[in-house]
Amino acid sequence: MCGIVGYIGKEQAAPILLEGLSRLEYRGYDSAGVAVFDGMSGTLAVHKAKGRLQVLSDQLHGGADLNSTAGVGHTRWATHGAPSDVNSHPQVSRSGRIAVVHNGIIENYAELKTFLLAQGVPFTSETDTEVVAQLIEYFYEGDLLAAVGRALRRIQGAYALGILCADCPDQIVAVRKDSPLILGYGEGCSFIASDVTAILRHTRRVGYMEDGELAVLTREGIQCYDHLMQPVRKDAVTIDWEIDAAEKGGYEHFMFKEIMEQPEALRRCLSPRIRQGEVVFEDFALSEEYLAAMNRIYIVACGSSYHVGMVGKYHLERLTRKPVEVALGSEFRYMDPIVDEHTLVIVISQSGETLDTMAALREARRLGGHILSIVNVVGSSIARESDQVLYTWAGPEIAVATTKAYTTQLALLSLLALWMGNRLGTVSQEEYRRAAAAFLELPGKMEEVLSRRDGIQYLASQYFNHDSIFFIGRNLDYALGLEGSLKLKEISYIHSEAYASGELKHGTISLIEEGTLVVALGTYEALFAKAMSNIVEVKARGASVLALTTQGRREEMAQTADAVMTIPDLHQLLLPCLGVVPLQLFAYYVALMRGCDIDKPRNLAKSVTVE
Ligand code: G6P
Repeated sequence: MCGIVGYIGKEQAAPILLEGLSRLEYRGYDSAGVAVFDGMSGTLAVHKAKGRLQVLSDQLHGGADLNSTAGVGHTRWATHGAPSDVNSHPQVSRSGRIAVVHNGIIENYAELKTFLLAQGVPFTSETDTEVVAQLIEYFYEGDLLAAVGRALRRIQGAYALGILCADCPDQIVAVRKDSPLILGYGEGCSFIASDVTAILRHTRRVGYMEDGELAVLTREGIQCYDHLMQPVRKDAVTIDWEIDAAEKGGYEHFMFKEIMEQPEALRRCLSPRIRQGEVVFEDFALSEEYLAAMNRIYIVACGSSYHVGMVGKYHLERLTRKPVEVALGSEFRYMDPIVDEHTLVIVISQSGETLDTMAALREARRLGGHILSIVNVVGSSIARESDQVLYTWAGPEIAVATTKAYTTQLALLSLLALWMGNRLGTVSQEEYRRAAAAFLELPGKMEEVLSRRDGIQYLASQYFNHDSIFFIGRNLDYALGLEGSLKLKEISYIHSEAYASGELKHGTISLIEEGTLVVALGTYEALFAKAMSNIVEVKARGASVLALTTQGRREEMAQTADAVMTIPDLHQLLLPCLGVVPLQLFAYYVALMRGCDIDKPRNLAKSVTVE
């Protein structure tokens, strides 16, 4: 959730740290701070400020004020202790000689704090991170790495740490357990970062830290150690995408840019996987014997990735005739899941770092399940811990509200369902061929939807001042509504709920009154008549209905709904993927008209690495 950057080299560190942090602000943005070595005085200079990174950057004149060639920086998403200057990171030890930036949660911090207080160590913040800085100092006897090692033996929880010690101006110590941290190898300089985007301007050569590893960064290079302090060799990998991919490129918001990038992202994701009308997965295989013996499929994910799973369940069950359960990452461990060696566990995560999803993955593995993940970030923790990975190749996604990651995940999961159905013989050859061809049409059809965005902007102008909006639909349209509703509420702060239409009359309909906006989804051809009858029901109670349907059904829908958005007709397997685009645009324009901070909605973070 929080963002970490560290640099040691020959250039002025603070501007590099602040620039790197600006690329991590999507991870957390309630406060920020930097610590650098002050060569003149032999101390650490620490500067922190509540609020957006810009506040800190303005105070430090973009970093120009700090004359130092090594330091660490942090952008925070508060867990322990409210956002404030004092709770911001870096947190320092009592003498001010140890500074720590931290991503994660120290679970036994209260116990450690009690211990340190009893030793007379005073505390100044409410954070769990201060405990780490104080504990390292408590164990420090002139060897920083040894002190960190001793402290880690006492600490429980999840952490990525960047540590500076005033006595060691030529090194930064980094540690990783259950929170992402990468190493960057430069010419005469070294980096740490929570995400590669923070350092890509300086180096493309990165190393992924494993859980329990420590690293000592110097200007000459990086030495890694395992949890027993034995040196380990780490090979650098080269990042092959351009930094422009993580920049706004003239768009007002990352979210809008990413919405517009969807056709291209889908081409990247799908074209190599459909050849001469056949679905081809070069990156993984499941044998026919495995598929035949498979007893059930679990899909495990959080947030929008979970919504992908909700759509995927319908597709997978229809196409493979195997039972599919969709579970939230945060619930899976506690539901006593029925998993054995014949269970396929599909883990979906854009970031590949969501802690709850990761914990579910580990539980599924412990129970013997086969783990296939659908991930965007190459080399992320979930990707590395899975038996097999399908990458979405959507490119970096920066806006907190996911768009292109959602559509590529959904397209890939749908393609997987089709592939499995074909291998199992549960899909007719005719349907297989027709559906495979439709995947290649998807990007072009999506371009059509995007080209008509003015119409959706107009509709947003009609409805943006509603306080409460309901999304209704059945089956695939219900799953789509969940994502449409989430998109809207997370960036516009309008209260919004999604319901399976048939459930309305079991309670929710009592909330419908004169003028309530209902977004009615009717793209699923087989249930179109049912969708219409639910629209009539809410209209009879005074609702305004904004409908989404296919072009072929537009006229019929327009006779009942107050306003209609359409998507081109396409194979049913792909309609949710197409149908989400008008809902993304609607959410975007509504939030824009309400003056919301679209890319960084309040209280949210892109990558949720705490439980
Ligand atoms: C956060 C993001 C969501 C995302 C969810 C799961 O809440 O704001 O957009 O869907 O995490 O993230 P993941 O990276 O695992 O897909």
